Amino acid sequence: MIKICVAGAAGRMGSTLIKEAVARGYTVVGAVEGKGNPNVGKTLREAGICNSDVKIVDPSHLEDAAKEADVYISFTTPEAEVENLPIVANLGKRIVMGTTGLTVEQMQKIKDSISKKVPAVISPNYAIGVNIMFQLSKTLARLPPDYDFSITEVHHTGKKDAPSGTAKKLGEIISEARKYTTTVYGREGINPRKPGELEILSIRAGGVAGIHDLIVAGPHEMIRIEHTAFSRSVFAQGALYASEWICKQTKAGIYSMEDVLS
Ligand SMILES: NC(=O)c1ccc[n+]([C@@H]2O[C@H](COP(=O)([O-])OP(=O)(O)OC[C@H]3O[C@@H](n4cnc5c(N)ncnc54)[C@H](OP(=O)(O)O)[C@@H]3O)[C@@H](O)[C@H]2O)c1
Repeated sequence: MIKICVAGAAGRMGSTLIKEAVARGYTVVGAVEGKGNPNVGKTLREAGICNSDVKIVDPSHLEDAAKEADVYISFTTPEAEVENLPIVANLGKRIVMGTTGLTVEQMQKIKDSISKKVPAVISPNYAIGVNIMFQLSKTLARLPPDYDFSITEVHHTGKKDAPSGTAKKLGEIISEARKYTTTVYGREGINPRKPGELEILSIRAGGVAGIHDLIVAGPHEMIRIEHTAFSRSVFAQGALYASEWICKQTKAGIYSMEDVLS
């Protein structure tokens, strides 16, 4: 069975992923948290995550935590990814990364530092349904020019980045296909829709794991595709599926969930 090192181990996604991984028979060999996180120094058992004696360490012990792993799975922060991923790639460890909110420069820096060294999956959303939604959006983008595309996304109040990485990715697919030149992130006052505009609206409320709604409206009809994540388990399961897939890849490079699912 696959041995994993999880970064952001005590976070919302990391802890969910560890629970799902253990239930599937994976072995957790390493757990990393941010410097100063209250769980650093505790075992996964003491942190209430799973029945394991693996100690949660801070990034200064990253090499030690990852050295026995087949895959390094990371749901942390953009800054953490920029620092940690090159170290993991230098160890020759395969990577599955789900962190969102990276700037174009941060993402480029990561790609430059890992793409020639190890196989890695990077995806803003590991839910299989959302990745099918990406594909459906390409089909819908073939609708006539007088059909407008809008995206809404709802997430829990603790989510830091907006719009979500998933809404951005959906927006990129649609803007490329429809030749949109502008993205509008909300409207106020007298501000009608102009040609060439994509709309993305973000809502932060309560404990919502993630809702994405693609609205495509023409003059006389409307299509909506809505994806609702019932819990973070859907992302965790997708990331574990990606881990199994990346273990079979021998060519270094950056892969997407589309590659995994194809
Ligand atoms: N791709 C997907 O399918 C998917 C799904 C859900 C969420 N996400 C993304 O995943 C990321 C994490 O989300 P979340 O809800 O789990 O956030 P979270 O609960 O804040 O967890 C992030 C964890 O990373 C830790 N961390 C910070 N710096 C670190 C470092 N240098 N090394 C290791 N760990 C570090 C944080 O510790 P401190 O709190 O102490 O700083 C925190 O425990 C976000 O970008 C989110 O948008 C992606």
